[in-house]
Amino acid sequence: MAGPYDLIVIGSGPGGYVCAIRAAQLGLKTAIVEKRATHGGTCLNVGCIPSKALLHASELYEEAGHSFARMGIKVSPELDLSRMLAFKDEGVKGNVDGVAFLLKKNKIDPYHGTGRIAAPGKVEVTAPGGERQVLETRSIVIATGSDVARLPGIEIDETEIVSSTGALSLPNVPERLLVVGAGVIGLELGSVWRRLGSSVTVVEYLDRILPGMDGDVAKSLERLFIKQGLSFRLGTKVVSVARTDGGLDVTLEPANGGAQDHIEADVVLVAIGRVPYTDGLGLDDVGVLRDQRKRVVVNGQFETNVTGIYAIGDVIAGPMLAHKAEDEGIAVAEILAGQAGHVNHDVIPNVIYTTPEVASVGKTEEELKAKGVDYTVGKFPFLANGRAKVNRTTDGFVKVLADAATDRILGVHIIGANASELIAEAAVIMEFGGSAEDLARTCHAHPTLSEAVKEAALAVAKRAIHM
Ligand code: FAD
Ligand code: NAI
Repeated sequence: MAGPYDLIVIGSGPGGYVCAIRAAQLGLKTAIVEKRATHGGTCLNVGCIPSKALLHASELYEEAGHSFARMGIKVSPELDLSRMLAFKDEGVKGNVDGVAFLLKKNKIDPYHGTGRIAAPGKVEVTAPGGERQVLETRSIVIATGSDVARLPGIEIDETEIVSSTGALSLPNVPERLLVVGAGVIGLELGSVWRRLGSSVTVVEYLDRILPGMDGDVAKSLERLFIKQGLSFRLGTKVVSVARTDGGLDVTLEPANGGAQDHIEADVVLVAIGRVPYTDGLGLDDVGVLRDQRKRVVVNGQFETNVTGIYAIGDVIAGPMLAHKAEDEGIAVAEILAGQAGHVNHDVIPNVIYTTPEVASVGKTEEELKAKGVDYTVGKFPFLANGRAKVNRTTDGFVKVLADAATDRILGVHIIGANASELIAEAAVIMEFGGSAEDLARTCHAHPTLSEAVKEAALAVAKRAIHM
């Protein structure tokens, strides 16, 4: 039996590897178990990193074809898809190698294999070749992440009917791509393939895109996507997908029932959410509780109902986001080292890396209304921002929601170029409990897109300057 360790982390995604590094920094003897050949989890291997590489490359391809000429740059871009996919793979390799380096640097023992909790304090690792060993440890952190949610009766083959994983590696640009689900993956990867030449239809069960996002933002984004050439079938469900000589025959039906119709497609991307991944972990045998959605149940200290077994990231409740998993990993490592680790789940930014980008933090207007909170709104369009005008990235706006009585910022929602970077200052000010006035009185460099954030904060008190 190897060990004993202070901590064994199962899963080396952003939650797991960050947890292991923080634990090692704090002097805990730490091991990490990963069944994939490389570290970094969903995010680095088949999620955040490869999708952002393709979003970046396809955006430049589209800009080269459509926007460069008006800036006086004459080019005729030609797509080399296999090179673009190789560019994506190089980005992934750089990142996963980086994690392996960090684990080594922090003297964390990596075990390649599938981890199973044999008992509290005991993790059994089955290597790819079948050999087993049992490791001893004081604490265990489950960081096994999530898996693709599937549609009953529609089998993902990762060739014609794909999940996000297959959609990151299509060898040819499909002429007709049908996306099931107008959530984050559907819109990001739908955007990639539209830019590369596919005709993209997005089928969404609900009557809006991006449920959970601020409605105002989602409506604007839908309009912009339609202008870009995406088609939406909202309030519609996919009933079945049949293989025919001409490709795939997709049967659709109104979400509330009614007459069926058909769409033909070459590739169908199923992007209807993700489910916590706990297969083979032995949770039932050791008595670790899960909720109705199969998420591992934890308390405020990330501990399960079984002493010494903790869980973080996609496998527990909350948004399935890499940075949320990372922060939980840090918190649990600090708790295990006797410190006061904590995550403020009210201030977790959420970004969609489309064009334009969407970013939000805190409450949406819908949430504030539902809670009966009296709030004020400051909104500022990028059309009135000098830098956006000169860059010709005038689509979108910044919206600041503040408590009507105290002026404390309750939510910030941005749709526009570089929203993913602009949201960081909103998260910082909210973490400090700042007010719209605090943000409005902070000097912002000119000319920058960030001035739109300041102007939206000024607009809360109806004193925006450039409107
Ligand atoms: P994971 O990253 O899923 O890692 C879990 C690891 O555990 C995996 O490597 C798995 O192999 C391993 N594992 C599972 N079971 C076992 C076992 N029994 N033994 C050993 N190992 C095991 N989030 C963002 O914040 N930003 C983005 O831009 C973004 N883009 C995304 C794009 C796509 C296409 C997808 C699919 C997801 C994206 N996400 C993004 C979500 C993000 O990937 C997840 O929220 C994040 O990876 C969760 O981290 P985690 O550590 O909880 O789990
Ligand atoms: P999602 O939850 O974002 O969206 C799924 C969509 O599918 C929803 O709009 C839902 O109403 C719809 N839907 C569900 N069942 C359906 C059905 N039968 N027919 C039609 N529509 C249906 O899930 P998605 O896009 O798969 O992403 C999974 C997770 O990965 C998300 O929780 C997200 O947090 C994470 N992610 C984050 C990214 C980012 O931060 N930029 C990028 C990609 C993924």
